[in-house]
Amino acid sequence: MSKWHKKRRIGIIILIISFVFLMAGLGGLGMKVRHDLNTPFQYHLQARQPADDDSKDSSAAVSDGSVGPEEDYIYSVDISKHWVNDPGVPLQTYGAQYDNTVTNKSSYEIVDWSLVIAVPERNITIDSYWNGEWQYDKKSDVIFFTPDERIERILADSSATFGAVMISEELMDFTDVVFTGCRYKPITKYLLFWIIMVLVVAWATSVIAFIIYSVREENYRRNEERMDNVISQTMSTFANFIDTKDRYTKGHSARVSYYSQKIAEKLGMSEEEIRDIGYIGLMHDCGKLATPGEILNKPGKLTIDEFKIMQSHTTNGGAILKDFTAIDGIKDGVLYHHERYDGCGYMKGLAGEDIPLVARIIGVADAMDAMNSDRCYRNHLSKEVILSELEKNKGTQFDPKIAQIMIDMINSGEVFIENDQVR
Ligand SMILES: [Fe+2]
Repeated sequence: MSKWHKKRRIGIIILIISFVFLMAGLGGLGMKVRHDLNTPFQYHLQARQPADDDSKDSSAAVSDGSVGPEEDYIYSVDISKHWVNDPGVPLQTYGAQYDNTVTNKSSYEIVDWSLVIAVPERNITIDSYWNGEWQYDKKSDVIFFTPDERIERILADSSATFGAVMISEELMDFTDVVFTGCRYKPITKYLLFWIIMVLVVAWATSVIAFIIYSVREENYRRNEERMDNVISQTMSTFANFIDTKDRYTKGHSARVSYYSQKIAEKLGMSEEEIRDIGYIGLMHDCGKLATPGEILNKPGKLTIDEFKIMQSHTTNGGAILKDFTAIDGIKDGVLYHHERYDGCGYMKGLAGEDIPLVARIIGVADAMDAMNSDRCYRNHLSKEVILSELEKNKGTQFDPKIAQIMIDMINSGEVFIENDQVR
């Protein structure tokens, strides 16, 4: 799986997890709203005494221990006018207009509310009422009040007024009132709601950004892949040209490329570096295109002059690639892959870590394939001999660390030799 696919998978997982958290938050908020709405309260409120107190806001509220702060709800009643019925008869009755107010000082709305008002006498006649229905229950000496649609909701920090004209033997005060209802808070009044909204907007923005980024990245990757294919196929074709010139080294460039990449992997090089070193492996002998075929394919020992011409494939390769800058290190790999760790190689005589790393890697891969291939002047060497040559030349011909990596790969079977042939 490529880095991009890993990143995309992580991005999708983060988006899914954050979505789940958002949904959980919304669910929690919904439960809180429903809980608030479905949690009825019941308070015993005491109305003011109408006969000895004219203040409309002096009512006291006494909680019965139900949910919520009782001081948030105030009930008051005021006898705005009263009169005596039948003044000439011994049993007088009083008519009075009772103006009631319920004040809601909480941050919730009150819905589904009603009052049960205990009355002190049995002979009450309800003459008329407004903003709700009044019903007198003689048996239990209570009046039931149910608000009509005009005051069925008492908004936060506001009041509901209602009243009745009643006839009774005495003017009444309502000292025992049971106030029941449900709190309701619009969802927009919850801080959590706005926090979730901000997170939802942030989440939606992230999703859009992620989609745009993914589409762009996908296009970029497709182009890059196409370019990689073009480069890779061009390189392979060119490597075939090189190998065709030397009938004994068919497939040599591809194998050097493969071993070099395996070594680069073991050295912990990056994906791009490993890809590039594969290309460099394919090109490492490109200078042989300028080497005469009769020297390349000469079955006997080369003369000194011929050997010098053979050696010049490194500098010729450097010259061929002088304008090729797209792959880092390609010229180093071509120019210096015959340098030796002890400084006795060609063409420059560089030693140790002065030899570019890429050239040291190609050097080991090249020698490994040379030892394992038939040449015009000898047959391939056995696995044991190859291992012993690598061991023997650690620190002289080869970078000891890289040679050891090759030895380890042969021993572990990662570079597989069967019947003394690497495949
Ligand atoms: Fe070479």
